[in-house]
Amino acid sequence: MKLDYNNMLAERIGKEGIPLTALGYLAPQVERATQAMKDKRPQMAWRELPYNQAVIVKDILEYAAEMKPQIDAFVVLGIGGSALGPLAVQQALNHPFYNELPREKRGDNPKLYVVDNVDPERLVHLFETIDPTRALFNVISKSGSTSETMSQFMIIQALLEEKLGKERARKHIVCTTDPESGNLITIAKQEGYKTFYVPSAVGGRFSELTPVGLLPAAFCGIDIEGLLEGAAQMDAMCGEDDITQNPAHMFAVLHYIGMLHGKNITVLMPYADSLKLVADWFAQLWAESLGKKFDLDGKVVNVGQTPISALGATDQHSQLQLYAEGPYDKIVVMMGVDEYRKTITIPKSYGDMPSLGFLGGVTHNKLLQTMQAATEYALTKAGRMNMTITIPKVTPQTVGQLLYFFEVATAYAGELLNINAFDQPGVEEGKNATYALFGRPGYDAKKAELDAAPVKEEQYII
Ligand code: PA5
Repeated sequence: MKLDYNNMLAERIGKEGIPLTALGYLAPQVERATQAMKDKRPQMAWRELPYNQAVIVKDILEYAAEMKPQIDAFVVLGIGGSALGPLAVQQALNHPFYNELPREKRGDNPKLYVVDNVDPERLVHLFETIDPTRALFNVISKSGSTSETMSQFMIIQALLEEKLGKERARKHIVCTTDPESGNLITIAKQEGYKTFYVPSAVGGRFSELTPVGLLPAAFCGIDIEGLLEGAAQMDAMCGEDDITQNPAHMFAVLHYIGMLHGKNITVLMPYADSLKLVADWFAQLWAESLGKKFDLDGKVVNVGQTPISALGATDQHSQLQLYAEGPYDKIVVMMGVDEYRKTITIPKSYGDMPSLGFLGGVTHNKLLQTMQAATEYALTKAGRMNMTITIPKVTPQTVGQLLYFFEVATAYAGELLNINAFDQPGVEEGKNATYALFGRPGYDAKKAELDAAPVKEEQYII
């Protein structure tokens, strides 16, 4: 993987860019953040995932081999960090129309469905699409208490038990959760469900390389050992103290400088359909980790940067106008590949029409790469901060590298901002309000607070 940050620099894009001297001024913060990453590594349990899961991987592969012949569909019930990672890896490494393929073309693997939201139409339509008695439902919840996931679980458990009886239903549910705390582990033990664990010290959005992501990937035939191998390779690349040799730290430092200068938005724009959901996964990681009210000293800082997931060339026809000519508040990170896994050539059909003739004989591979280069040129000419991440090809190893790269970059950005990148207190308020509105025991004070909130005025509703 390569990170090219030429076009972040004032030397290339002019006054909106980062002067090289800025990297020098920031040396004390950078040194502090680098030291903090080393000191806190023992608490960042996600950093050891590439190395300490041999037994877990074996268990996952054996379980997948045993269950695959018994099912046609593998259904993930999870949300946030428990859904975005499985989706990203599946899209990156499997056929784009995987579920539509006949089973033999899927490597004899089941179809994959990820049901994250609690939109009733989604679940009802799923039941119209799959035979639940030929499906394995993977309930993924680190906390074991997320209402969305647990409510889906309760619906599916009841449905399976009605159709199959309690004993046979048990085989159709597998849980992935914290080994010690939460409702899900209690239920899993009570019911005797097969269970995989998310280490207690690994938070939801940093959990893709635990069984949260590895189990669905293994059921879909993805080389999970390759993913972990790639993550280990990236860990080695991120071990350098010198940020000019450390892509993840450099990515974070450049974004940090951007934030200090009003770049409140970062756009991750892969030029490969297969990486679009990696951009979605990154968006959650960056937003939930860095958007914080308080710093580590308890001071109100209200920091963060809004991540946007885009797709080249699609969003050239949707968003790019804004990126090139709108406010100077964005960093655009393009993500490209040296080699696509397939090649397709445009026929030389209309040689006599100059506006189409130039396409004849060109591959889509070349066309998309050229569009990426042209977008980079246009953004640079317009004085817009942009950088490029390039991987040689989308493989389990490079996807593992990307995931680990973004995780380290996020943690490092958290250190530069002096915030806790691993909690999400801002999400709790909404969760608590939901509990209170449903009259959950223990939430009476919150209910009273909600009841006392000013009533909306009709005159402002049209
Ligand atoms: O990163 C996080 O912690 C969150 O986005 C969680 O992944 C999300 O809220 C789902 O939580 P859980 O896995 O506990 O159900």
